[in-house]
Amino acid sequence: MKILDDEKDKLLDHEYDGIRELDNHMPTWWLWLFYFTIGWGFLYLLYYEFTDVGPDQHEQYEMEMAAAAEKYGTSSEGPGGDIAAISWSFETDQESIANGKEIYMSTNNLCFTCHGNAGEGLVGPNLTDEFWIHGCSADELATSISNGFMDKGMMPYGSNAPISDDDMTDLISYVASIQGTSPANPKAVDETRAVECTIE
Ligand code: HEC
Repeated sequence: MKILDDEKDKLLDHEYDGIRELDNHMPTWWLWLFYFTIGWGFLYLLYYEFTDVGPDQHEQYEMEMAAAAEKYGTSSEGPGGDIAAISWSFETDQESIANGKEIYMSTNNLCFTCHGNAGEGLVGPNLTDEFWIHGCSADELATSISNGFMDKGMMPYGSNAPISDDDMTDLISYVASIQGTSPANPKAVDETRAVECTIE
């Protein structure tokens, strides 16, 4: 190994398999970066642990959730929501039903892809006939939509794509409004599971 003159006094006295080490100083910029991270960490600790100057993570989360609730409306669905705490009912005014239809046909929710453009049924059951597998009361419809049927391919909208309570009311109202319409190509009733049920 060739050792340069100015390296002689920096050479450390250990050697492993012919590899030796020089006792070089760390670059100044690197050291400053190191001191800076220590200072930063100290200030961080003071700011978040010992003072109450700004919001911590949990407070930020609460603030963002509150802002979202204001923007999108509250939902009893969604993580932590309680669909059963509400007693759902159908609206009959045109505005609600039109909004419900919009939700049904939206590319966010994709109800139409499985239940058909007119509710005639495709992968999912026909929603226009008077036979229901999971019940046809307002509460049962909201529960079906909120919990979904993962084993059959319908996702739990409650935890995956929360629909606000007002929108849920409009959506089940739309489903109620198409009961008794006779769309083309209706899907056959699953006679082993569905029972007769008429939406009042
Ligand atoms: C990926 C396909 C798919 C999508 C998307 C889907 N569903 Fe379903 N849905 C199903 C299937 C399959 C069932 C039948 C579950 C069973 O057999 O138990 C079902 C069942 C239902 C039921 C209960 C029917 C009954 O007979 O009791 C309702 C109500 C319903 N869906 C409404 C909706 C609404 C509203 C949307 C949109 C927000 C939607 N579904 C989106 C596949 C889907």
